[in-house]
Amino acid sequence: MQFATRTIHLAQPSEPQTGALVAPIFQTSTFEQELPGQHRGFDYSRTNNPTRQRLEAVLAALEGVEHAALFASGLAAEHAVLQGLTSPGDEVVIPPDVYGGTHRLLHQVFARQGVTTTVVDYAQPGALERALSPRTRLVWVESPTNPRLMIYDIAAICRAAHAAGALVVVDNTFATPVFQQPFSLGADLVVHSVTKYLAGHSDVIQGAVLAREAERFAPVKFLQNACGGVPSPFDCWLTLRGLKTLELRVRRHAENAAALARAAAGHARVARVYYPGLREHAGHEIAARQMTGFGGMLSIELDAPLDDVRRFVTQRRYFALGESLGGVKSLICQPAAMTHASIPAETRARLGLSDSLVRLSPGIEAAEDLVEDVLEGLDALGGARIAPRYGRGVAPLGAAAV
Ligand SMILES: Cc1ncc(COP(=O)(O)O)c(C=O)c1O
Repeated sequence: MQFATRTIHLAQPSEPQTGALVAPIFQTSTFEQELPGQHRGFDYSRTNNPTRQRLEAVLAALEGVEHAALFASGLAAEHAVLQGLTSPGDEVVIPPDVYGGTHRLLHQVFARQGVTTTVVDYAQPGALERALSPRTRLVWVESPTNPRLMIYDIAAICRAAHAAGALVVVDNTFATPVFQQPFSLGADLVVHSVTKYLAGHSDVIQGAVLAREAERFAPVKFLQNACGGVPSPFDCWLTLRGLKTLELRVRRHAENAAALARAAAGHARVARVYYPGLREHAGHEIAARQMTGFGGMLSIELDAPLDDVRRFVTQRRYFALGESLGGVKSLICQPAAMTHASIPAETRARLGLSDSLVRLSPGIEAAEDLVEDVLEGLDALGGARIAPRYGRGVAPLGAAAV
């Protein structure tokens, strides 16, 4: 069954009692029991809820595993993984430009619990192997990363981590299961900010943990109920609705991102474009191998002073200035002052997260309108368009280079 068919048919039978094509929202906190402790699989909605259970089944099917647990946010999902699978004295390895909230969770919450974090550039040959030690419990992977769209070789990371006895967690938020299947590359757990492409309409905050093995999943599932960071049935229903168009949406997001990358790369006021679909992107070859599309996100480094950067991000016609990404309506942000502001300035500087880096999350509007809007903004900064510096353009996956 192809992915687009799976999003609509897998784990989504019509409602058995009435035949309703779309499952109802079980908006209830509790369930009537037949005898004390005797019920039909549901006693209290923090523990389990039919709408949430249905969404968990769909997400598990889309990532190709059996185990999924939903949380009230992506960070709550990450927290459950870290709480459930690490102990004081353990080490977690992360890549340099991991999502700011993940960075904060590790450095400001888990550090206090005696879990240390080591930053390793997985793109440097041998760097991960040298960093791994018997204390390393988790190797955390984002690919593409937020916000510089770095690409890491997930299969190679899994081989190195497993050889050292560590588990691999992949944050698959940016790629989505449409473009990347981390379990098939060897991952042990996958986390999602469901808030983004999976829900897809900028109206839900939600997170998910998926696991290949029951043993790894059990502590996460326990914490879902024990700590209680669960999403509402209504939010689960919204995500179920959003998922039905996931494949269509992310393909359009990716087409728009590719068009913008191509257009921005030819502008004098753009110092650099970060998009894995560009052949000049350092991770292009790996992306072409491990993904089936290059994703819907891109970042551009403006060659402009801060005032101009601010003008650029606030004066777009179709890109709302805001955190988050992956919704049908385009968003723009300045990571250093927004999504990644929680990372100390010196660390940001070291990681290349400069004040002139702008992240774009193109929606599903027409590419022409988005490109025109961005080029207008760049032109307003002054400086003529030049021959594309990344002139060989975006390579469509599975097709010859352009
Ligand atoms: C890659 C990535 N992972 C995790 C998160 C956290 O998810 P949430 O905002 O749903 O808590 C985000 C949020 O921006 C993200 O971009």
